Amino acid sequence: MKQQNTAIIGTQWGDEGKGKLVDALASQFDIVARSTGGSNAGHTIVVDGQKYVFHLLPSGMLHKNTIGLIGNGCVVHLPDLINEINNLEKTGLDIKNRLKISNKAHLLLDYHRLIDTRLEELKGDNKIGTTKQGIGPCYVDKAMRIGIRLGDLADEAVLKDKIVKNCDFYNKTLDLKLNSQQELATILAVREQVLGFLDDTSLWLNTQIAAGKKVLFEGAQAHHLDIDHGTYPYVTSSAVTIGGVCTGLGVAPKHIANIIGITKAYTTRVGEGPFRTELNNDLGKVIQTTGHEFGATTGRPRRCGWLDADIVRESVIINGIDEINLTKLDVLTGLAELKVFYQGEYKTFEVWSEDISQISRFENLPPAAQKYVLELEKMFGVKIRSIGVGPEREALIFRN
Ligand code: IMP
Repeated sequence: MKQQNTAIIGTQWGDEGKGKLVDALASQFDIVARSTGGSNAGHTIVVDGQKYVFHLLPSGMLHKNTIGLIGNGCVVHLPDLINEINNLEKTGLDIKNRLKISNKAHLLLDYHRLIDTRLEELKGDNKIGTTKQGIGPCYVDKAMRIGIRLGDLADEAVLKDKIVKNCDFYNKTLDLKLNSQQELATILAVREQVLGFLDDTSLWLNTQIAAGKKVLFEGAQAHHLDIDHGTYPYVTSSAVTIGGVCTGLGVAPKHIANIIGITKAYTTRVGEGPFRTELNNDLGKVIQTTGHEFGATTGRPRRCGWLDADIVRESVIINGIDEINLTKLDVLTGLAELKVFYQGEYKTFEVWSEDISQISRFENLPPAAQKYVLELEKMFGVKIRSIGVGPEREALIFRN
């Protein structure tokens, strides 16, 4: 049975483990689409010992019958994209014949990365802790109306003109030594490999929806990293909440029938910014180690802490989330204590020590784990319909 068009949105600060649910659901969809961000996102999926690494491509492309779509709201670094495609194809996955990229998506050049690094240095103690992938500076160009879109690749003269102008501009204003010839050469070397993927994907997507094809909107980053709704200024540079799905792909809200929020059973954050439930102690270290909490893109250790139910509830309300997928419940197994922040105070929960990674029915979870889930559900104000209980693909409990 085909699902309704579904969006998947992180409810915390990213790295909630969206990949697993996407993997479980993607085979029921025709199209998997990314609407915002670039290769600041990242995750690794291991299936039968084979490792697959996704940064910009939607991870639902792991299922060979899906069409992958990179929307107009995304920013694309061409050499990285080609590398990602080639690495996935080396594993036997066919990507090139089922990928579409919006000709309105913006080109992320090497100079955006240099500027990202430079701005972080200039900010000193106020740095954001970005992934240094050039995401912010690329969206700056877009908002300044000097951005270069993938559609510009079709005309070499236009491309050259824009790259030279932009490099000159930043060399003057930021006192950099950007090399426009080198930037151009980098793009020209791979241009031919991408032209075939480009299309007016908004119209294409709407035609597909009208024809009854089903779409999985694969969110990147998460609610509290949203440029408007997140913990500004410690956020990413795009709209990663539900509205961003509509603008980043050119699809009307009425075509998104189901919105799933992804919530980790505790909280993590990479980069700077407020995190009131952070555990700067041994317990935090235990969670970091057990949960393998190291960034997929940068390798940075993630800050770890208790679940903050208030920030999840805010995401539920603002994104109109219909159900929650709770991830990594198994990481809490065996902890000395268990707490959740809710309405201004900590609530303490009973702990459990039994291995839960092989359990496939909610009723078979230890009573303390069941209680944790049921109480969270009340705090979030929405049903927790699926629960991740271990790293394996199958370690996912679905509730009726
Ligand atoms: P940027 O998106 O690289 O500009 O980084 C801005 C903030 O968002 C930093 O705190 C990053 O660590 C964070 N961030 C960006 N992408 C992700 C992600 O996929 N997972 C978690 N944090 C992210």
